[in-house]
Amino acid sequence: MDTFAIKGGVPLYGGLRVQGAKNAALPILAATILAGGSYTIYDVPHLLDIKVMLEILSTLGATYVHKDSTVHVDTTNLTSAYIPHELMGQMRSSIFLMGPLLGRCGEIVLSRPGGCAIGERRINLHFKGLEALGATIVEEEGFIHCKADKLKGNAVFLDYPSVGATENIMMAAVRAEGETIIYNAAREPEIVDLQNFLNQLGARVRGAGSDTIVVSGTKHLHSIDYKVIPDRIVAGTLLLASAITKGEIELHNVNPQHMISLLDITGQCGVEIEYAHDIMKVKSKKDFKAINRIVTAPYPGFPTDMQAQTMAFLSVAQGCSIIKETVFEGRFRHVTELNRLGADIYVDLNTAFIRGVPRLSGATVEATDLRAGAALIIAALAAEGETRVTEAYHIDRGYDTIEKQFSCLGARITRMENDSFHSTGI
Ligand code: UD1
Repeated sequence: MDTFAIKGGVPLYGGLRVQGAKNAALPILAATILAGGSYTIYDVPHLLDIKVMLEILSTLGATYVHKDSTVHVDTTNLTSAYIPHELMGQMRSSIFLMGPLLGRCGEIVLSRPGGCAIGERRINLHFKGLEALGATIVEEEGFIHCKADKLKGNAVFLDYPSVGATENIMMAAVRAEGETIIYNAAREPEIVDLQNFLNQLGARVRGAGSDTIVVSGTKHLHSIDYKVIPDRIVAGTLLLASAITKGEIELHNVNPQHMISLLDITGQCGVEIEYAHDIMKVKSKKDFKAINRIVTAPYPGFPTDMQAQTMAFLSVAQGCSIIKETVFEGRFRHVTELNRLGADIYVDLNTAFIRGVPRLSGATVEATDLRAGAALIIAALAAEGETRVTEAYHIDRGYDTIEKQFSCLGARITRMENDSFHSTGI
């Protein structure tokens, strides 16, 4: 297992282009199954989750090349509708294949997905939506058998605006006969990106970005080239890292509209942020203030995927902050690790109370999940002395060589692989 070694206390300076969005690229890669053909998808980051998705496509019969940040995938010949358990277990997003495979082949066999240990992560809404379109789903001996001779459009109400369920149902509905309406749909920017991709493919989808999405089924689809949107969570992580180190950075390839709740919070704390088009400048010379209350919520609320990193940032703010987590019940495992670095955080049920401390100090800590790992890196960049963040593979699931990104902004961070250091600065 790789470990990151970080010598803190160096302000970040310089410019960086933000990677494409993992959470947009994953459903888009799954959607290439809907219509056979050859696709070129640009700005796909090199991440463990993307690698697993491409491996799954390959076991289904597709071929692919992922070079630089471009994926060429050919889904003309599908030879299987079975997703091996080992691959399902590695990533929650493997569930996205249900909609497209049902739409194209009328069946799929898979097991329950894996992913970060941040809560129960149910899939009942995926099932509810696909069953409403006519699929039969039987779960036995650890396998989920899903079949539909014909998918038929229907109205689906989601009890909660689940991102994955909204995307899965949208993709299945593209190949269904007639009209599907998804009520209480998730409104995340990645869903709008999926709608744009599907419409370029020839589908007829409207309403993404609102809570009602309407899909008119069609058989006339064709392969395309497409560029995914910038990753708002990676941009937010870099923003907070710059602010906590009192640095000054310029981020390129960002969409500030997708980051409004974070920009509002960091602005209230006193971080100076300017943006125009797809460029954002972050400056933070003064000490920053705590924030009374942050509540995570579905978009456009404060993203649960920024909660851990924001907590790391607030751990050295002046005053006490409160963060309430409402999306994933188990998403506070980073608290113990942040406290190991000298933070003063107390958790009561789904609410964390953060008393800002003057400084953090280096220690060995464990990345327990993807964003928890990013939070520890942010804290380590500000801490005195050296921090080691173990279980780096969690971080590799969402950040394309994070050590290179931070090194290029002047951080002293090194990846330690099998007990040997890569020379990126430390
Ligand atoms: C997606 C994102 C993830 C982000 C999350 C919430 C991707 C690849 N991942 O995950 O980074 O943290 O949105 O913004 O896009 N739920 C149910 N039943 C279901 C589905 C979900 O009860 O069938 C619940 C979950 O347990 C959770 C909440 O809904 O409490 C949100 O989950 P969901 O929006 O589905 O997240 P994901 O799509 O898994």
